[in-house]
Amino acid sequence: MTTLIPIGRDYESLVQEDRVHSAVFTDEEIFQDELERIFHRTWVFALHESEIPNAGDFKRLQLGRYPVIATRDEEGGLHLLINRCRHRGAQVCESNHGNTRRFQCWYHGWTYDCRGDLVGLTGPEGYDENFDPTQHGLTPVPRVESYRGFVFASFAKEGMSLSDYLGPTKPYIDIMVDASPTGELEVKPNVLNRTRYRGNWKQVGMDGYHPHYVHMSVFKIFSKRESTTGSAVGALQLEDPFSDASTSRTRGFPNGHAALDFREQRQPHADNAIAELRQSEDGARYVDDMIKAYGEERARDLIAWHGDPHLGIFPNLQLIHGHVRVVVPIGPGETEVQMYPVFLKGVEPSINEKRLRSHEAFYGPAAAGSPDDAEIFERTQRGLIADIDPWVPLARGMHREQVDEDGSVVAYISDEITQRAQMKEWKKLMTAKK
Ligand code: FES
Repeated sequence: MTTLIPIGRDYESLVQEDRVHSAVFTDEEIFQDELERIFHRTWVFALHESEIPNAGDFKRLQLGRYPVIATRDEEGGLHLLINRCRHRGAQVCESNHGNTRRFQCWYHGWTYDCRGDLVGLTGPEGYDENFDPTQHGLTPVPRVESYRGFVFASFAKEGMSLSDYLGPTKPYIDIMVDASPTGELEVKPNVLNRTRYRGNWKQVGMDGYHPHYVHMSVFKIFSKRESTTGSAVGALQLEDPFSDASTSRTRGFPNGHAALDFREQRQPHADNAIAELRQSEDGARYVDDMIKAYGEERARDLIAWHGDPHLGIFPNLQLIHGHVRVVVPIGPGETEVQMYPVFLKGVEPSINEKRLRSHEAFYGPAAAGSPDDAEIFERTQRGLIADIDPWVPLARGMHREQVDEDGSVVAYISDEITQRAQMKEWKKLMTAKK
């Protein structure tokens, strides 16, 4: 049945339990509201601490509508500062990343240090005693918190802590971080794959329904040439996602987070993965170091996970198969995706090299996985414009949802729990009074 409703700010109607209106993906006014009500109010991922390890390191970010600079000061403090000169508003940093002691505005030369303090005022004699330089530093982002090296920002002065926001997803983040025997990751700001596609930012989500269609050709190639023991992509081939026998699950967490949970699927292959690693000296050392750090059982579990929580943190972060994926909304029909390979600290270079090759094989610019996704997102966006019959059903698996001990809603891997979790949070934030 066709149900036309007026496009506008009736967010209660646009998102229903089992469906969403296509205007949510295509409308310019709604997109601008999303930046305001979602990206400027909830926690958004900013960067990984390891991207700016040294005094003077900086990275330029775009968080919602706001340009931001992440900096490291001489004492090791990390700052997120609005990239807007406190004189007449010019951006003071135009480089994507680097190292500097000062940010000097190109317009009239005001200069700021890495804490954002105004340390250089051109022509100070032109200002009288009422002008206070200490009140004209770069504006700090109101709240900055981190978990296991992942730094998040909130432009809301008050609200729930990051720890509460992440809630039961934290053990999944641990899976990625604890793939390192020292529990430390390294993300390099200059090693990334940046893709723009003509589609809405909400399309980049956890979706266990699509791989066997969109990525089938890649899977066929992989099945001929790759081991299925340690590879996330290989492991995905092992089960029919539509079979009742599939042990993989999809999870929706509070606050819009979601995961594809391959734990049961991968566990039986842990011994094979360890045996494969032990075939090389570096691999054997990695296994021994993991056991030393985490104990036999946890190490086995972590090696089976392969550092791949397949986790989406609403609204802009995904942790997938050895990389950090950041979603940057540009417009209702334009999105940038930044993919940073994650390197493990405390391991031999060959271990990281193998992870990088594995990442590149599916997600790299010359692979087929990510281009496949971008292509289908663009086709979807072109289709959604045709809103004669505007509803998008997200009903798959509603009848078999269960609530797990950790509070997540869980069902089969191909069920649309993740999309429902995302849209539920979207609606909550878009209809919030403040
Ligand atoms: Fe930056 Fe004038 S706008 S110094």
